[in-house]
Amino acid sequence: MSTGVSPIYPINPIVETYSRLAREYDDEANFLSCWGRASERALSAIRLREDYQVVVDMGCGTGRAIYALASAAPQHTQFIGIDPAENMCRIAAQKAVEQKAVQIRQGAFEKIPLETASVDYLYSILAFHWVTDLAASVAEIARVLLPNGEMDLFFIGRDNGREFIQKTSAIFLKYMGPALLLDSARLRKQLTRGAASELFSKVSESPRLSVDESFTTYYDTLEGHWSWWVRVEGHFVKIPPEKKDPCDREVREALQSLAEPRGIPYTIHELHVKLRRSNVLY
Ligand SMILES: C[S@@+](CC[C@H](N)C(=O)[O-])C[C@H]1O[C@@H](n2cnc3c(N)ncnc32)[C@H](O)[C@@H]1O
Repeated sequence: MSTGVSPIYPINPIVETYSRLAREYDDEANFLSCWGRASERALSAIRLREDYQVVVDMGCGTGRAIYALASAAPQHTQFIGIDPAENMCRIAAQKAVEQKAVQIRQGAFEKIPLETASVDYLYSILAFHWVTDLAASVAEIARVLLPNGEMDLFFIGRDNGREFIQKTSAIFLKYMGPALLLDSARLRKQLTRGAASELFSKVSESPRLSVDESFTTYYDTLEGHWSWWVRVEGHFVKIPPEKKDPCDREVREALQSLAEPRGIPYTIHELHVKLRRSNVLY
């Protein structure tokens, strides 16, 4: 196993939280939540070419996608899963005993632990919005991809979760104050489709590169949403301990007030950055 568990990049609170929650990441509740469903939807859009030699999953988490893809791929395809969260890497690496085509390494978009021009296909599901340095991350992607390499990045856009945000912003402002609330919001990169197109134009130009966006509404119970909301979004909500219970109560009431017959809606704004081969034969 090659997880290289020494910290090779500055630790950040997002990565620490993912590492702490890694053991629960494969729980059914997470899988059935809007995030689990969005991950599966992205995975089902991935098509591997027969001639790929090296396929990389950035922000691979516990490795659900990479092992699913590796199990249906030709033997010559090598898979490398990369994640900055130590415990995510450990869990993903344990599964490599069964699937020898997969290697797991600790690393991040900002500093990808791979040789220059070594990757045929790079994909990432719901991780790129967590990068701390957009320019460095894009430069790293461009560095590791082969000249005619391909890519699919699925990540969250600026208008994500608008129903929850509209309902809860005033409550978080009341309990956190403007400075903390702003700090929290800044932890996630919130790109529009236009900003993503401009950013990735450094990797390649149209027609090889395109950026699509989608808005998909997922319905769930309050408990279903709450399990990820408090764990995944909640980790950056630095509310003083004595204010936590009353804040939680108000937030739950606000979310419940969104309920429709199908459940409580949450709309994921997803950006999909696609890089495809040019028609020129190399
Ligand atoms: C929502 S999980 C997605 C995991 C997996 N791709 C899936 O779909 O189940 C986000 C993952 O991104 C990782 N991550 C956070 N910051 C990252 C960074 N800067 N570069 C790469 N991955 C990062 C986290 O550790 C976490 O495993």
